[in-house]
Amino acid sequence: MKRLKVTSEIKYEVAIGDNYLSALESIKKNHQKVLILIPGKLKSLVKVKSSKNLYFLSLPEGESQKDLTSLSRVWKELAKFNFGRLDAIVGIGGGATTDLAGFAAATWLRGISWYAVPTSLAAMVDASIGGKTGINAPSGKNLIGAFYSPRKVIIDLDFLQHLPKRDISAGLAEVIKCGFIKDKEILTSLRRDVIDFEDIIYRSVRVKAKVVGSDFKESKERELLNYGHTLGHAIESDSKYKLRHGEAVSIGLVFAAELSQILRGLDQEVVSEHREILQSFNLPISYPKSRFPNLLKNMQVDKKVKNGRIRFIGLDGIARPVWLEEVSKADIAKAYERITK
Ligand SMILES: NC(=O)c1ccc[n+]([C@@H]2O[C@H](COP(=O)([O-])OP(=O)(O)OC[C@H]3O[C@@H](n4cnc5c(N)ncnc54)[C@H](O)[C@@H]3O)[C@@H](O)[C@H]2O)c1
Repeated sequence: MKRLKVTSEIKYEVAIGDNYLSALESIKKNHQKVLILIPGKLKSLVKVKSSKNLYFLSLPEGESQKDLTSLSRVWKELAKFNFGRLDAIVGIGGGATTDLAGFAAATWLRGISWYAVPTSLAAMVDASIGGKTGINAPSGKNLIGAFYSPRKVIIDLDFLQHLPKRDISAGLAEVIKCGFIKDKEILTSLRRDVIDFEDIIYRSVRVKAKVVGSDFKESKERELLNYGHTLGHAIESDSKYKLRHGEAVSIGLVFAAELSQILRGLDQEVVSEHREILQSFNLPISYPKSRFPNLLKNMQVDKKVKNGRIRFIGLDGIARPVWLEEVSKADIAKAYERITK
């Protein structure tokens, strides 16, 4: 097992390669009551039965749980069992579940303890780390939320055995991003015949923990984690969420590398490395030419747009990220042209 510390508004541990059952035992010892939130589909994977002071609430699948209906159900449950400040919520599931669990904990009695047990690779390396919690609003994704860190993140690698290959690849897109922005060793590790998940998760969490530790509320440094995400988010929404977040980010990473080549002279070899490593995990690296006008429109409403200017994160080289401010439409179009199919 590998452990990392995240320092944000509180200090907490991320245990990689832990056993969630024994972790739950100590959570039960530290709190009077515990409410476990879990999507119905994953319940069969979890070998815990409700017992005295341990309650379960089954949630709908994926994004559909990140809404006010599910949140109200959690609040109702907490009220029913009289949850107080010494009690805790545990979110077991993908990023949608840990986002909801964290936000429910942030809003109950102005904040009770919560724990994340991420079960998807995307949630292990990204969603459960960094304290961003929330739900979707009818007008947009992740618009309602709070920065509210968990007491501990418990990463049990056994969950990955049940995760479909497509979701493993989608999670790897974020891992690859961490490799390009901060830790070259991740890319080396991913080229080996057998993936050492403990190693790549540890390294990716370390990248995120460091950045989040220096800029919890995303004033500047944390934006580096958005490498590949400006176009990625636009593509995700353009695809009507048929593409996984990680798949859209994969295309966004190649775009960001091409843009860096145009604006900062990034080595063509590094751009090719993006395509080669993403493709080796069956991740998409191109998008239709005809979608450009809509993508541009989507990028203009991104939360990261400042004064109407689209900003990107680029690279000067591997592990040398830079801010690309005030990028012209012509340069965006030029880079997009290079990733069209
Ligand atoms: N808070 C943050 O910083 C942050 C960062 C990135 C993403 N997110 C959020 O995370 C969500 C995406 O995360 P996700 O991809 O994990 O989505 P998800 O939670 O919707 O899970 C994807 C699917 O995989 C299933 N699943 C999860 N673990 C499984 C397992 N071990 N075996 C089989 N099936 C499993 C889930 O039930 C679901 O159907 C989005 O809502 C996104 O907004 C949050």
